[in-house]
Amino acid sequence: MVTTDTGTLFLHPDRNLGMELVRATEAAAIRAVPFIGRGDKLAADGAAVDAMRKFLGTVNFDGVVVIGEGEKDKAPMLFNGEHVGNGRGPACDIAVDPIDGTSLTAAGRQNALSMIAVADRGSMLDASTVYYMDKIVTSAEGFGVVDIRKPIGENIRALAKAKGKSVDEITVAVLDRPRHVQLIDDIRAAGAGTRMLLDGDVAGGINAARYETRIDMCVGVGGSPEGVVTACAIKALGGFIQAVLRPVDDDQKQRGLDAGLLFDHVYDADSLVTSDNTYFVATGVTDGGLVDGVRRKGPIIRTESIVLRSRSGTIRRVVADHLAQKWLD
Ligand code: FBP
Repeated sequence: MVTTDTGTLFLHPDRNLGMELVRATEAAAIRAVPFIGRGDKLAADGAAVDAMRKFLGTVNFDGVVVIGEGEKDKAPMLFNGEHVGNGRGPACDIAVDPIDGTSLTAAGRQNALSMIAVADRGSMLDASTVYYMDKIVTSAEGFGVVDIRKPIGENIRALAKAKGKSVDEITVAVLDRPRHVQLIDDIRAAGAGTRMLLDGDVAGGINAARYETRIDMCVGVGGSPEGVVTACAIKALGGFIQAVLRPVDDDQKQRGLDAGLLFDHVYDADSLVTSDNTYFVATGVTDGGLVDGVRRKGPIIRTESIVLRSRSGTIRRVVADHLAQKWLD
């Protein structure tokens, strides 16, 4: 329970919330399927947004969208400030990305996910005025040794030592963008390997924080919304994240300053999302390293999702079979 200055009492999100929210990412992923490989990313996103909004309306919580995603690309979105949920139950901030990897979906490529992050009301950084942030994500071994202000080579060597690996065993995920040409050269010059991401640095960050994956670190400039969403997941994984806002021009910087954002400032997991009660759920749209995509098996549509909860530190894998005929309209 949270008591505010005005005396309002809020319930904390409880343990069932993640398992309820997964229905919304499942629905968004299923509705995106007809658009996989059809070249129309806005249509894919629109279908996922509509499905997510509808299913969120049935979940027992009082959510306010802090991160609707989509501004940067002028894509269909749930709007910042929009109320979602049935209004009963815990008061929460919610970040949604009905499809992280809209271009991947439109092209029929791997690693597109539908995702939601939830935390106590008022706890998520609203970075909506500044579209990009520089991020570094590792497993817990990064604490005290990795620092986003240091050169990448230094961070790679420090993480390798902390993990008891040699530098050439370190793999760094980075978005394949022209802005990262120098960063990629520096990673390779340090002796580490790269895993180039076409899109989807949330999954890249989660894979860097998990233990049983081939990725040790995820770095580079990606979406700010995705940074906050990643922080919600990282809190459940016990991983390490740092981020620095990267405005694209003076106007964006000024709007960020007006919104109280800090520049030349290192945000960590606790300042990206101050609550220790976070949930992250994601369902595969197309197959990926984190989860499989939606697949049709005769009369069944099968989805695979992960549900992360910070308070318990649990990662649940949820495989659901949906009767296809219920999804015909
Ligand atoms: P969307 O599919 O939601 O547009 O995001 C894909 C994504 O790759 C994110 O994972 C990443 O943070 C961001 O876009 C990077 O932005 P940009 O494509 O403009 O470099």
